[in-house]
Amino acid sequence: MSDAKQVSPAVVRRLPRYYRFLGELLKVNVTRISSRELSEKMGLTASQIRQDLNCFGGFGQQGYGYNVEQLHDEIGKILGLDKCIDAILIGAGNLGRAIANHMSFDQRGFRLIGIFDQNPALIGDKIKGITVTSTDNIETFCKNHSPVVAVLCIPKTATKVISEKLIKSGIKGFWNFSHYDLLDNNPDIIVENVHMSDSLMTLSYKVHEFVDNNNKH
Ligand code: NAI
Repeated sequence: MSDAKQVSPAVVRRLPRYYRFLGELLKVNVTRISSRELSEKMGLTASQIRQDLNCFGGFGQQGYGYNVEQLHDEIGKILGLDKCIDAILIGAGNLGRAIANHMSFDQRGFRLIGIFDQNPALIGDKIKGITVTSTDNIETFCKNHSPVVAVLCIPKTATKVISEKLIKSGIKGFWNFSHYDLLDNNPDIIVENVHMSDSLMTLSYKVHEFVDNNNKH
């Protein structure tokens, strides 16, 4: 992990994709792969792949390529997936439920240990075996269980207050789906702001560009 901190954020962003592709290769019993083959599958150049993986000490062998299982395991370790981070989720509405039910936290280095909401009608519901608890109990819960990460699935108007409360309670990382951008320049926390709508608008731009270019020909 200490090595991973020294590499560029762009490389770190690509690692989950390598991990996913290699996992898919393992499922179909591919045991080794060259950087050229991997590059064709992933739409990156072979030299990009070699450069990325060299940041972590290589893993490849000249004339052999990469051992898929070894590379998959090593990237998993670099991403910290062999360790477990305790997480809580705030906001048991539509998105919160979908994430709690469908995100395989345990395969990605996390363990969901608590779900909180402010709506009394939801308190006591069970989601993925976890009882939804009142947000009034967050501080006590954090004191007793020391979760490290919070997943925010609450309206943006609630995010500032809740995140400040969580930081005071020892939360270090936010997977933030609310449309309030937590700033990632706060040295006390790590933030991943997620906006599916950004991805959709990027698609809009690309489709328009593609259609316009094709109409010119
Ligand atoms: P929802 O209304 O179904 O659920 C929101 C839940 O948050 C409710 O159960 C509500 O009681 C709870 N809540 C509100 N204030 C709270 C507080 N202070 N403490 C604890 N719980 C609180 O809404 P939905 O569809 O689940 O969306 C949640 C948020 O995620 C919205 O802000 C929405 O805009 C955003 N969103 C973001 C996406 C993304 O890509 N980042 C995609 C979809 C939704």
